[in-house]
Amino acid sequence: MPVSASSTPSSVRQYVFDIGKIVEGALRGDQARVLTYTDRLRSRLEEDGEQQAALRLKRLLSGSPSHMAQVADIAEARRGLPVDSESRLPIADIDPAPTGTETLVLEQDVGALVERFVASVQMADELVANGLSVSPSMLIHGPPGVGKTLLARSIAQRLGFPLITARTDALISSYLGSTAKNVRMLFDHAAGRPCVLFLDEFDALGKMRDDSRELGELKRVVISLLQNIDALGPDHVLLAATNHEHLLDPAIWRRFTYKIRLGPPSVEARGELFRRFLRGHLEDQDIEVLTMLAEGATGAEIKHACEDSLRAMVLGGRTELGLEVVAHTLMHSLDDDTEGAAPEDVVLRLAERLGRKASQEKIGRIVGLSQSQVSRILNAKEDRHGRRTTASNQSRPQKRR
Ligand SMILES: Nc1ncnc2c1ncn2[C@@H]1O[C@H](COP(=O)(O)OP(=O)(O)OP(=O)(O)O)[C@@H](O)[C@H]1O
Ligand SMILES: [Mg+2]
Repeated sequence: MPVSASSTPSSVRQYVFDIGKIVEGALRGDQARVLTYTDRLRSRLEEDGEQQAALRLKRLLSGSPSHMAQVADIAEARRGLPVDSESRLPIADIDPAPTGTETLVLEQDVGALVERFVASVQMADELVANGLSVSPSMLIHGPPGVGKTLLARSIAQRLGFPLITARTDALISSYLGSTAKNVRMLFDHAAGRPCVLFLDEFDALGKMRDDSRELGELKRVVISLLQNIDALGPDHVLLAATNHEHLLDPAIWRRFTYKIRLGPPSVEARGELFRRFLRGHLEDQDIEVLTMLAEGATGAEIKHACEDSLRAMVLGGRTELGLEVVAHTLMHSLDDDTEGAAPEDVVLRLAERLGRKASQEKIGRIVGLSQSQVSRILNAKEDRHGRRTTASNQSRPQKRR
């Protein structure tokens, strides 16, 4: 009985997919494709524990002269990048083999969508064989510092594709007609190899709307973008990131098959981020306090607070980190600076941020006061509040009957 596709283990299907791409590249004399998919197969084998086979491919790859040029000499890969004719700046940057040590923390639903996107690229052949179209494009939107650029990098890394990042500053030319030309050059360059093309800070193109002289040019750019997006094949993944999605032309917005909104992390994600960035320096109960304190903070703000605190610890010749240091640094980066403020004021601000559930002992540890001192400050506030409420009730004119 023939084995149906669905009963084949997915790892085997993925190996076969990569091998198919290598054969395809070899038959077409497309060395870039052969190298990209061989490297992808190598990393897949490594992930699956097939170290011997992975090592063999690694040796083959490192013996290939063009691989050495591609990986060992990134400058070489950059030499071919298109440049803006006016500024002579390259309009993109290339990372031939994106790697990274940073792990992205994603909410469950966002993570599932990213997985589906990656699978749709990895199994493009199967989708096509089943009569389904593949146009792998994703628009990532959300406020600054939530991990949009990091997500794009990690998708390129997962796919094992080179990452071509457009430099929007160089892409937008002050010469009439040149921006649309740059967009075309960028997509033409990307078409020469399997890759992830990443348009970071994509809204910069939309901002051309602000200037009425630019409107005609913007139309040309939008048309050029739409035509180029439509012409992308399944080996070309398009990612774009923006903080101002409302500035994008609706036709461009519709072109992206996947749209992902990243926002400030949830309580669980904040806990995970603190655990990672503090590298085992605080206990779970302290992390819980920081997690509550950081409500509304972005991943970048959390990282910044943790790294600043660790830096101060190392420079101060200490090996231990206190909850109060991270809490104050965090408040500072959230524009709620506690430095130089009266302890009573800090207690009240912390109680407001942490809510009624926060234990007075924890607030005391952050401020350097005992639990009973914290309790006195909070009670005094309640008393004042109570008195004010009673006083205002008394002074309120009685309704005439
Ligand atoms: N969800 C997250 N998981 C892990 N790290 C994160 C996350 N969000 C932010 N970070 C950290 O913050 C840093 C900055 O994030 P990144 O540059 O990707 O944000 P961004 O959304 O692209 O911001 P901008 O809009 O300013 O370009 C990352 O390098 C990472 O260290
Ligand atoms: Mg970014």
